[in-house]
Amino acid sequence: MTFMNKKFSEKSKRYSYNDCWNYAFQRKKISVEAKRQKEIISICQTIPAEFWLNFSNKILTSTNYRQICQKIQQYQKNTSLAYLNKETYFYNLPFKIEKGVFIPQKDTEILLEKTVELINQYWKKSKRIKILDIGTGCGNLAICLAKISPQWQITAIDISKKALKVAQKNVQLHQAKNVKIKKSNLFHELVKNKKTVNQQQTERYNIIITNPPYISEREYKKLHFSTKQQPKKALVAKNDGYWFYEKIIQQVQQHLTKKFLLIMEVGHQQKEKVLKILIRKLPQAKVKVFLDLAGKERVIAAYKVW
Ligand SMILES: C[S@@+](CC[C@H](N)C(=O)[O-])C[C@H]1O[C@@H](n2cnc3c(N)ncnc32)[C@H](O)[C@@H]1O
Repeated sequence: MTFMNKKFSEKSKRYSYNDCWNYAFQRKKISVEAKRQKEIISICQTIPAEFWLNFSNKILTSTNYRQICQKIQQYQKNTSLAYLNKETYFYNLPFKIEKGVFIPQKDTEILLEKTVELINQYWKKSKRIKILDIGTGCGNLAICLAKISPQWQITAIDISKKALKVAQKNVQLHQAKNVKIKKSNLFHELVKNKKTVNQQQTERYNIIITNPPYISEREYKKLHFSTKQQPKKALVAKNDGYWFYEKIIQQVQQHLTKKFLLIMEVGHQQKEKVLKILIRKLPQAKVKVFLDLAGKERVIAAYKVW
């Protein structure tokens, strides 16, 4: 039996992926059976270390071997690592992720940070505040907030059933008991009693946080293939990318308490127009713009805290 046969047989479960790849890289004793391995070696060099970390210290079986080969092939076709690994990180926390659900972006961490900063500045620590996360995706923002304070009651909504399913799994993963996951098309399903349309009763929130879709159709066409693997509905907004800001700001007042914070991620160069909508629809609010690490205007907060 050749070395490679031994390596990948189900019986020899002593080998880790690391052993396997070390062997492959060192190119010792490449046997006939290792032809496929040779092909992999040539593409290994183009794959970032992050990919391999996922396999380190695990036992390699022949089934695993086939899986790893498939993953490499998918990777070559530009599939995102998060979708391959079914896991991603946001604010140093792991989140389950699946194809069809938006992958949280590093840039969005500033939205979380500024939300927490403003809450700490204007609300007492012990206060039981109600937060609504619109377009929660895999639940990353809602769950991070929930973990920061068990006093905060978070409702996380999304229109996508797939996203809600993954968000629910993440709630369980993080034991985030103060997060409620709900299906809702923006505020639509949050109205308590739909029969009495004229006297609609709605839950009111102290804080509304959102990272809505904000890419225009025109911009979408120019996006890199790998970004387009994300669900289009999570990225693109009508009205040149402003549809969600217009709808949310138009309807937000009836879902907010007297003292409130509305905080939103905005796209590159969208600040001016979003500010105009805010000033028109929420003239009583103070507004603030925050930059991301790259110095881009990324977050807009509108608040009334007096
Ligand atoms: C850009 S992703 C943000 C995901 C996550 N909050 C984050 O920041 O990483 C936008 C999310 O909005 C959701 N969405 C799109 N249209 C919606 C609607 N009409 N009502 C509620 N959610 C919607 C999408 O399914 C997607 O999960």
